[in-house]
Amino acid sequence: MDTNHLKQQAAEYAARFIEPGMVVGLGAGSTAILAVRHIGYLLKTGALRDILGIPCSTQTEAEARALGIPLTTLENHPIIDVTIDGADEVDPQLELIKGGGGALTREKIVAQATRREIIVVDESKLVPALGTTWDVPVEVVPFGYGSQQRYLESLGASVKLRPGDGQPYRTDQGNFILDCDFGPIDDPAALGERLKQRTGIVEHGLFIGLAADVISAGAGGIQHQTRKSP
Ligand code: A5P
Repeated sequence: MDTNHLKQQAAEYAARFIEPGMVVGLGAGSTAILAVRHIGYLLKTGALRDILGIPCSTQTEAEARALGIPLTTLENHPIIDVTIDGADEVDPQLELIKGGGGALTREKIVAQATRREIIVVDESKLVPALGTTWDVPVEVVPFGYGSQQRYLESLGASVKLRPGDGQPYRTDQGNFILDCDFGPIDDPAALGERLKQRTGIVEHGLFIGLAADVISAGAGGIQHQTRKSP
């Protein structure tokens, strides 16, 4: 089965947790967009009604508008009932690396405001430890970004400035992204705390304690994992 089909399965499975009256976070990336399109389809066919979406990126917003999904903002609706979003890596504790698509800051703002964050992936994203296959994206203010690069290298990362169209990639906030290869990370929460203390770092792609559910699709079908209570 090809990866797109698996992503579609996970996205459709997750959409069943959306109910009329809900405020719904609309994630970014290729898998989350499949969920957005499925939500658009459910609304169009009348299988779902009366929801409001909050998009995690300008690209998702454009897609949602084109599909006719009614949108709102965190200012008008500060609590999101359910968000469906993708991930680049998921570890056995349901901690994540996100930001491959560059939307990590808005995705984390939305996740923090969400009661039930549902992550949809194909099974290739499941890893024994974060950092095994994917770099940690770190969003930095362009001013003095070389200083942040040296700081990240001092923490043991091999760091690359994410390229864009002939110039550095810019996030929706106008910032740069430094992709950091730390190798497998022993303590992602501690690393995340260190990154947050550095001025010039806006946000990082380690999503700790935020995912409530992970829905992964693979050759053997759908696996639905839920976070164990602390
Ligand atoms: C967007 O910034 C990301 O966090 C995506 O959710 C993540 O990169 C997964 O994307 P795909 O579903 O395209 O693999």
